[in-house]
Amino acid sequence: MGTIIRDSFGRVLDYVRISITDRCNFRCMYCMPASGIEWIPHNEIMTYEDILFLVSVLSNLGVKRIRFTGGEPFVRKGFIDFLHEIHRKHPLIGIAVTTNGAFLERDASAISALALHSVNVSLDTLDPGKFSEITRTGDLSRVLRGIDSLVASGEVPVKVNTVVMRDFNLVEIPSLARFAAEKSVLLRFIEFMPLDKDVWSKMQYVPASEILSLLPEATQWSPCNKNLRASESLDPGIPNGPAKYFRKKDTGQCIGIISAVSDHFCHTCNRLRITSTGEVRPCLFSNKGVPIIDALRRHDPDATREGILKAVTQKPHEGGTGIPGEKQAPKVDQHSSITCFNREKSPRNGAENFTEERHMSRIGG
Ligand code: 5AD
Ligand code: SF4
Repeated sequence: MGTIIRDSFGRVLDYVRISITDRCNFRCMYCMPASGIEWIPHNEIMTYEDILFLVSVLSNLGVKRIRFTGGEPFVRKGFIDFLHEIHRKHPLIGIAVTTNGAFLERDASAISALALHSVNVSLDTLDPGKFSEITRTGDLSRVLRGIDSLVASGEVPVKVNTVVMRDFNLVEIPSLARFAAEKSVLLRFIEFMPLDKDVWSKMQYVPASEILSLLPEATQWSPCNKNLRASESLDPGIPNGPAKYFRKKDTGQCIGIISAVSDHFCHTCNRLRITSTGEVRPCLFSNKGVPIIDALRRHDPDATREGILKAVTQKPHEGGTGIPGEKQAPKVDQHSSITCFNREKSPRNGAENFTEERHMSRIGG
């Protein structure tokens, strides 16, 4: 493998998240309005060929892990065949997928044959009514059967990600922890990030310290980042990204908490994001991006590399919200106003549209 991407603050960027589609079969309340967003036309998103080429450039730049995200990646036709092809061409790159879990049951055997490093399933509640409420179109039992099928295959580590929202699922922290123990999946609680002032109020945010205090038998849990078991590690031998892990003394269960808001992990950030339209985003909390789609379409390795490295130079030391006058990543307090993107009516179909690409289905989680 070739060069190592190092940013101006010395961080080695060896992890890239690639959004392969902005489309999704769910309409999660914190992600998009009920009417959906105006989907990006197919001809503007990267083809699988473009992405294969991109991955070869990334591989030559020393990237070790790639996570495919969406929208919902499994809604894109041919995604599983594409993953096979990526693995065949780049067997040394660790490939992972983030999904809402709706298609796992249907595709479990094909997915288990992919030698994925991990499949992260988003699951915010175990209550069927609340699940329909938050996802608007989702069916909890289908997602749970999907998780079961994948776990039963025993071929791929399954992780469950839960965004904690005060009035929604705070009370479910103990039951979600028990669920993860029963299913032997690694659960990570994610602090709600106030990326959109309109979709969901910032008051839903719950700090990591409070999440920790609500784990069942809270005093039993102690930090364990340094001694995760191989099956729990996101990628054996590689630091575990932004999550802080805690192990329960009596049962040995391990749970992660991702404190994107209360405790910045920017100094250890090792990632770049690439949107489905082929824009390299240096930071989740920044609207800056370098378009590389033309270079990808031309299969031009130099221009692609140049675009990626240009984005690397734009990677901030610490993320900011994009709010004028506010440089830091979002520190949530009741008096600060966190306004990250505006909406306008689409001239094409009247649907609400996001004028700044700060929501997860466009940036790619
Ligand atoms: N804050 C925290 N996590 C979020 N996700 C989507 N929007 C937010 C937000 N505002 C999560 C999804 C999924 C992952 C891709 O990002 O629930 O787990
Ligand atoms: Fe929900 Fe993820 Fe789909 Fe957004 S992209 S609607 S968070 S499942």
